[in-house]
Amino acid sequence: MTTIRVRSASERRREIEQTAAALGIDDAYISTLVETFYGRVRAHEVLGPIFAAEIGDDWDPHLAKMKDFWASVVMNAGRYSGKPVPAHTKLPDLQPWHFKVWLDLFEQTLADTAPHPDAVPYFMERARRIARSLEFAISGLPPLNAGARP
Ligand code: HEM
Repeated sequence: MTTIRVRSASERRREIEQTAAALGIDDAYISTLVETFYGRVRAHEVLGPIFAAEIGDDWDPHLAKMKDFWASVVMNAGRYSGKPVPAHTKLPDLQPWHFKVWLDLFEQTLADTAPHPDAVPYFMERARRIARSLEFAISGLPPLNAGARP
């Protein structure tokens, strides 16, 4: 008989923490990633104006929030408790195609800064999944590639 082993929530949490540590992902790296990425976002001809319209010049609270967000996603830090969907559905200029632009810029930033090559797909797998659900939320339709393998 085949035995199916179901991992407990605490085992899964430990696994996430161990994977992140093995890839060199820590708070210092997340800080570098977030600062570098949003530096590029601000200068980006498509993304820059969308952020500027919402955030203006007051970037520090957004950067702090995004560091907590990514630490929670990739290291299970449990420091983020915001609401990403309403934060995006309220943006009047956000279009579904902006997500690919965002993801490409994020991937390039990871490629330029990651402490380990495998950290790039580790972040990207999670970023793509979240982007898909945000794209779904803003457009009201499942994106064409929903359910496709990353
Ligand atoms: C398509 C491009 C995107 C644009 C233009 C965009 C823009 C923004 C803006 C302007 C805010 C600030 C809203 C506020 O402070 O009220 C925000 C918040 C946020 N964004 Fe995005 N975003 C994009 C894609 C993404 C993606 C792909 C992710 C995740 C992988 C993400 C994660 C978040 C999170 C976690 C917040 C904080 C929400 C909160 O708790 O207040 N965004 N975004």
